Amino acid sequence: MNQRELFLRHVAQTSPAPLALEIVKAEGTKLYDAKGKEYIDLIGGISVANTGHRHPGVLAAIREQLDAYLHIMVYGEFVETPQVKYAQLLASYLPASLDSVYFTNSGAEAVEGAMKLAKRVTNRPHIIAFNHSYHGSTQGALSIIGDEYWRNAFRPLLPGISHEKYGSFEMLEKITADTACVIAETVQAEGGVLAPSAEWMQALRQRCDETGTLLVLDEIQAGFGRTGTLWGFENFGVTPDILLLGKALGGGMPLGAFISSREKMFQLADGPVLGHITTFGGHPVSCAAGYAAMKALIGEEMMTDVKQKEALFRSLLVHPSIKQVNSYGLWLAVLFDTFETNKRVIDKCIEQGVLTDWFLFAANALRISPPLTISEEEIRRACEVILSAV
Ligand SMILES: Cc1ncc(COP(=O)(O)O)c(C=O)c1O
Repeated sequence: MNQRELFLRHVAQTSPAPLALEIVKAEGTKLYDAKGKEYIDLIGGISVANTGHRHPGVLAAIREQLDAYLHIMVYGEFVETPQVKYAQLLASYLPASLDSVYFTNSGAEAVEGAMKLAKRVTNRPHIIAFNHSYHGSTQGALSIIGDEYWRNAFRPLLPGISHEKYGSFEMLEKITADTACVIAETVQAEGGVLAPSAEWMQALRQRCDETGTLLVLDEIQAGFGRTGTLWGFENFGVTPDILLLGKALGGGMPLGAFISSREKMFQLADGPVLGHITTFGGHPVSCAAGYAAMKALIGEEMMTDVKQKEALFRSLLVHPSIKQVNSYGLWLAVLFDTFETNKRVIDKCIEQGVLTDWFLFAANALRISPPLTISEEEIRRACEVILSAV
């Protein structure tokens, strides 16, 4: 059997029709398959490769950490320099109320940690989430995702969860003294890059304050420069009580985090002690890689031209078959009439060396979330291919 057949035979499948590209090398904004074909990567591992694939600074940091130690102890017991350095760096770029970082293995684990922390801090039973939100695939995260098709087969899920309309002012009344937290994506990713108004975000913040409810913002896709600012919430004039990060946070290595105030976070250390335990969360190599990625993101000014690049994409992606383009930074959803049209365009793009895909809750939308380092020339080339495919 060849690699593809072995993949289909022995690697657990998540869909009947995986892309099944055999990528043998990645560099910057490009992927290369086993036949030497080059692809412009418009997906970036679904918003993971914000600083580009195999950034040299990230590779050097990984190599350096390999020579010191890999895993040495479950999270939180030892002073592990890569964790300390990265937590301090993150805190230095966050508001003072977000000064305590709990590193996890993944985005979903960060979501789980935040849900537990909100219940522990408020001692309340109820969580509000939103339609069309995606928060991960573990049972807690699945309980709050905003689409019945993905939830229903796995019931019973967590009790005490309700789903509301994202961006609705009427829903604010549903937040009460029983609500432990409201969990929202700062910009909804899988709904097809849906941004709320700043007025709504601020009203949501205010209602949470009035009712003593924690506001949890999931920036697992929206954070780390994707929207053109380091954190998505900066665009809306609010600060969450708990911030969720993942994906690009590890510079290509697995890493997530939930971040809150030291005071709140300390409740996971007391009553019960070890309120959240993770063996591999905050893996030293992942933290070293993430630290280097964040230094590169800021030091190499990768966010400064995100808005211009977004504008360039928007100016080029004009065609009667393109019904709408949603965007927020270097993050675009190109809407067609149906999934079938979109799928044909995606397949054609891949054939012509441009890698893209669709969104979980917007199957008619083509995904653009490339490394932030994508050049103007690559954007022009990618758009040419998309338009010819259309
Ligand atoms: C907004 C958002 N939250 C949470 C997650 C879950 O992250 P992970 O796949 O690392 O568990 C994802 C993953 O796609 C996501 O996009």
